[in-house]
Amino acid sequence: ASRQGTVVAVDGTSGSGKSSTCRAVAARLGLAYLDTGAMFRAMTWWMLEQGVDVHDAAAVAERCEEPRIVSGTDPEAPTIHVDGTDVAAAIRTDAVTGSVSPVSTVPAVRARLLTMQREVIAEAVRGTGIVVEGRDIGSVVAPDAPVKLYLTADPAARAARRAAEEGGSDLAATQAVLLDRDRIDSSRATAPLTMAEGAVHIDTTPFTLDEVVAQVVGLVRAVGTRA
Ligand code: DC
Repeated sequence: ASRQGTVVAVDGTSGSGKSSTCRAVAARLGLAYLDTGAMFRAMTWWMLEQGVDVHDAAAVAERCEEPRIVSGTDPEAPTIHVDGTDVAAAIRTDAVTGSVSPVSTVPAVRARLLTMQREVIAEAVRGTGIVVEGRDIGSVVAPDAPVKLYLTADPAARAARRAAEEGGSDLAATQAVLLDRDRIDSSRATAPLTMAEGAVHIDTTPFTLDEVVAQVVGLVRAVGTRA
C-alpha cells in the first residue's frame, strides 16, 4: 500500500493563535493547509452580498448550495475565492466577523462545507498531508486524524492578538466580540467547538508563536515516527 500523508487537526477558540501556528507548522513540515474558518467566512460574505438575512436559518439553508467556494492550500499563501472572486480581505471585515457565527450554526451550511473540507483533505493525504484548522476538525471533520490539537489562550491575550491582526481595533470591543463568538460556537447544536477525544491541549498564553510551533512540530514528528 502507498504511504498516506498525515492529517493534523487543530481546533480552538478565536484568536488563540491557531492560524499563525497552523500555517507555520504546515510550511515547516511541507504540508498543505486548510483554514475552515475562512470557508465559513466566505459563505457568510456571500450571504451578506446577496442580502440574505443571516439570522433567518431557513433562508440561509435554502441558499447555501449556491456559492462556489475554492480554498487554496499553500500555507505560505492561502487563498479563498467565491465564484471566482478573491475574498481574502473581504472575509475579515467586522460585518463578516459579526455574522459568521449564526451562519455557522445552520446544519445545511455545515454539511455543505464538510463535504468540501473532506475533499480537500482526501486530496492532500494522497500527497504529504495537511494541517486543518477550525472548531470541529478533530471531532467531526477528521476524527481519525493521527494528531489532534486544541489551542486556547486567555481572553485578554487573544483580544490583543486579534486587535493587532485587524489593524488596531478597540481592545475591549474586540474581547467582547471574541467571547460572544466563542459562546455561540461552543453552544450550538451541530458540531460545537469542543476538545476532541485524544486531542492535546496547548494553552498558548505564556508562549511565543515560535515556541508553540516548535511544540506542535515535535508532536507531529513524534507521531510520524511511531506510524
Ligand atoms: O477561525 P475563524 O475565527 O476565522 O472562524 C470564523 C467562524 O467560523 C467561527 O466563529 C465559527 C465558524 N467555524 C466553525 O463553525 N467551524 C469551523 N470548523 C471553523 C469555523
